[in-house]
Amino acid sequence: MKYFITLTLTMIVSILAHAQPAKEASCRVCHGAGGAAPIAPNYPKLNGQNKAYLVSSLKAYRDAQRSGGLAAVMVAQAAQLSDADIEALAAYYSSQK
Ligand code: HEC
Repeated sequence: MKYFITLTLTMIVSILAHAQPAKEASCRVCHGAGGAAPIAPNYPKLNGQNKAYLVSSLKAYRDAQRSGGLAAVMVAQAAQLSDADIEALAAYYSSQK
């Protein structure tokens, strides 16, 4: 019984630790599962990227400070993100292998 409880708690903790942020579903369409499999070679991978870099990139798109190239695609995506969304997404992608 004690073993079963420990096992169940371990499973819950590990599921929570790997939980995707709610908004990740929309990112996956282009960046792939875990940000590791983008749909086109000129779309960036996000997995394992530094968290601080992800936060600053997303804020730069959202605040229209990053433009040129394919940035317009991301400006539309980042426009709907709050600071809390950005923190959660950056933490998630930086933790992906
Ligand atoms: C419609 C396709 C599409 C969707 C959906 C999308 N992205 Fe992107 N993303 C791109 C493209 C294309 C770029 C490259 C833009 C550029 O050239 O600046 C990019 C760039 C980025 C970058 C910068 C990476 C770097 O190395 O500089 C981050 C971070 C990012 N996306 C995160 C996200 C997150 C988080 C979401 C979900 C909220 C998301 N993207 C949804 C297409 C998409």
